[in-house]
Amino acid sequence: MAKPILITGASSGIGYALARVCAAHRHDLVLVARREDRLLGLKAELEATHGVQVLTYRGDLTDADTRQQFFDWTQGQGIVPYALVNNAGFGDLTPFAESSWDKQNAMLQLNIVALTHLTRLYLPAMIAQGQGRILNVASTAAFLPGAYMAVYYASKAFVLSFTEAIATELEGTGVTATTLCPGPTQSEFAERAEIKDAKLFETAGNLPTSADVAIYGYAAMEKGERTAVHGTVNQMLSLATRLLPRKKLAAITRDIQKPA
Ligand SMILES: NC(=O)c1ccc[n+]([C@@H]2O[C@H](COP(=O)([O-])OP(=O)(O)OC[C@H]3O[C@@H](n4cnc5c(N)ncnc54)[C@H](OP(=O)(O)O)[C@@H]3O)[C@@H](O)[C@H]2O)c1
Repeated sequence: MAKPILITGASSGIGYALARVCAAHRHDLVLVARREDRLLGLKAELEATHGVQVLTYRGDLTDADTRQQFFDWTQGQGIVPYALVNNAGFGDLTPFAESSWDKQNAMLQLNIVALTHLTRLYLPAMIAQGQGRILNVASTAAFLPGAYMAVYYASKAFVLSFTEAIATELEGTGVTATTLCPGPTQSEFAERAEIKDAKLFETAGNLPTSADVAIYGYAAMEKGERTAVHGTVNQMLSLATRLLPRKKLAAITRDIQKPA
């Protein structure tokens, strides 16, 4: 495969859009998600439009065995990724004390453990080949505590901290690690997180598309940027979180996100 890029969560939203951007830049692709029909539709489109090779893998990345099997499957085909895009993730708007533990646990497994595990599995070969890119999708949620989405915000804080740390470890190896921090973006995220009607998404007005975020994220990854916050307003807000007390930040998210 030519400079292959592995993308998790490529069946909708930002991952789907990233696959299109990567294919337009002539990368072969390995796409992972649970909805294989979506992946196969995207494969057909990208192979026809860009002449790239696209492999698909149906799997639930909350499961450690599935992650290992996916890695072994790519190893078996001799694939050393040029880039690993850990994009799959989801949120849940709910008071923590009333939340489903199974859902919170799945979120931790996907947003944190799968991202960390896949990075650990693929990084050694990327370092050995002397070039590569890790793109970990966090969120502007990484910069503050988020009432009523406590686990989600905390998971994204992990992604930011983890990726910043390995980016430093990777200096001089030819491999870079970038954290992409989108703000609210058009995708299936809000509906799945049951925040369609939350004030945050109500008041956000014309949200950027997943394609907007994907174009920005791909460019940041290619430049080897450490942290890439999408959008000027989000960049200003993420800087402002450094100035306010964290208790105040949590109260702001409470007022914006309190479920009806
Ligand atoms: N949209 C926003 O407002 C926003 C803002 C900031 C950050 N983000 C982050 O952006 C990333 C992409 O989200 P999105 O907005 O594009 O949402 P989305 O449209 O819901 O896409 C999520 C993707 O993750 C995949 N996925 C979910 N659970 C999975 C599992 N157990 N195993 C494998 N794949 C799984 C889904 O595929 P299947 O269901 O087919 O498995 C889908 O392809 C997430 O990490 C999210 O936290 C989103």
